[in-house]
Amino acid sequence: MFKILNFDKVQSTNKLAFDLIKDNKAQHQNIIIANEQSSGIGRMNRDWVSQRGNLFLSIILQFNDNVRISDYSFLSAICIGKTLEEFDIKTKFKWPNDIIYQDKKLCGILLQNETINNLNNLVIGIGLNLKSAPSYAISLEKHDIAREDFLNKLIKNFENYHLKYQQFGFSTIKNLWLKNAFKLNEIITLSNKQTGLFKGIDDEGNLILEDSNHDINKIFAEEIVN
Ligand code: BTN
Repeated sequence: MFKILNFDKVQSTNKLAFDLIKDNKAQHQNIIIANEQSSGIGRMNRDWVSQRGNLFLSIILQFNDNVRISDYSFLSAICIGKTLEEFDIKTKFKWPNDIIYQDKKLCGILLQNETINNLNNLVIGIGLNLKSAPSYAISLEKHDIAREDFLNKLIKNFENYHLKYQQFGFSTIKNLWLKNAFKLNEIITLSNKQTGLFKGIDDEGNLILEDSNHDINKIFAEEIVN
């Protein structure tokens, strides 16, 4: 059962999640949600602009043993995509973990993990542009989606797909993700300037890139930039 912990203004829901875990004030399946963030964190040390009206949340999962963290970024993307579909919004998944709407970024996911008191803590941070977006991105302003409505549906999807993942492993998640992958079978450019044909992802979630010599490269730490 997920439990929601609401806050007004915080630095970052991910940071708060770890602080609360350390103070024994938050635990497995708690969701930290805030109206505003003063220092929202994005991937690769970027800031996440966090204006009021948008959705900022962090899902806490605690494990006794090791888990494949990257699986959870694909799992989260699928849950967000499915939830948006329930509002008639069709999105794409951009490797490794962006949600794209009308070719622009709508949502970002930041996974962080830390061992605290012998537990492996995974915090899945989700930033969704419900009301506004920076110029390079897009929001759902015109769709008028209530945050609570979105959240309730997201939790149901998360429970459902997490169970599927635990029962059947990454392959189910991988196949669902690939069905909606942004720029699959197209020429892409990565953050390290490498270009090539985006052939898919492997069983570890690495991007499979075919270069101009038809060599296959496995990519794990970059981003698709174009
Ligand atoms: C990205 O760079 O695309 C990831 C952005 C993740 C932003 C979310 S907002 C809620 C949570 N708290 C943070 O500080 N970051 C994540």
